[in-house]
Amino acid sequence: MQALSLENIHFGYKSGDEPALDIGRLEIGSGERVALIGPSGAGKSTLLKLIDGRLRNWSGKAVVLGETISSRRTPGRTFSRKIGFVFQEFALIERQTVFENVRNGRLGHLSTARSVFGRLTPEDYKQILTAIEETGLQELMHRRADELSGGQRQRVAIARCLAQQPGMILADEPISNLDPVRAREILDLLVKVCELRQATLIITTHQPMLVRTYVDRIIALSEGSVILDEESSPASAAQVMAVYEEMADPLAAHNKPASV
Ligand SMILES: Nc1ncnc2c1ncn2[C@@H]1O[C@H](COP(=O)(O)OP(=O)(O)O)[C@@H](O)[C@H]1O
Ligand SMILES: [Mg+2]
Repeated sequence: MQALSLENIHFGYKSGDEPALDIGRLEIGSGERVALIGPSGAGKSTLLKLIDGRLRNWSGKAVVLGETISSRRTPGRTFSRKIGFVFQEFALIERQTVFENVRNGRLGHLSTARSVFGRLTPEDYKQILTAIEETGLQELMHRRADELSGGQRQRVAIARCLAQQPGMILADEPISNLDPVRAREILDLLVKVCELRQATLIITTHQPMLVRTYVDRIIALSEGSVILDEESSPASAAQVMAVYEEMADPLAAHNKPASV
């Protein structure tokens, strides 16, 4: 089964500009783990926005977790809660505790009346506590978000998204603000929780060599288009790295001395 299927996607932020997305066909299988790589401005975040239904006025066909995404309307809550999002800058509520931040991920499951009064069902509690346990945050549950380190904050963000019981996790540069050891911990965790929950993972990053062992597949984007789509391997990661260097700074790549 496909988790994602895109066909003839075109999108530009301003008409007349170069398209921010121009993708003929892209399919991602259920449970697959994919790294989406490309320089700043390649369209990675825009593509994630389209996948979770926040992008307007694009053309083409997009089916995500069995639902056809509309370019005109924000999707309903039943769809939105199936897509978990993890951001580079964590996006936690600073003054809330770890528990409260993780609980926020559960709000999409509450009826409007319940979410206004913050009433949780036993099932909500169970999902929140399971998410906290899976991410190893039990000891920190009552600490405020602004007291935590970067790695811990990203674990809270992952727990918040697990509380949604997502079928797909979109992680937009989740390791860019972390040191290499914390970055590996977060990648390990993302892979572990996605395997456990059979969720599809799409992770954008600038670090193909680091992420290649965590993903099944590497997709490179440039100027809104897919320029490489291969099984993850040392060779494909190196290929992306080389393409990447040229895309990032063609002159530097071109003028590099043949040998040093
Ligand atoms: N809100 C926006 N308004 C106008 N242009 C945007 C906006 N967001 C992104 N862009 C442009 O769209 C292109 C793709 O951006 P983005 O998806 O953020 O790339 P990436 O995540 O790969 O860095 C870039 O040229 C960027 O400048
Ligand atoms: Mg981005």
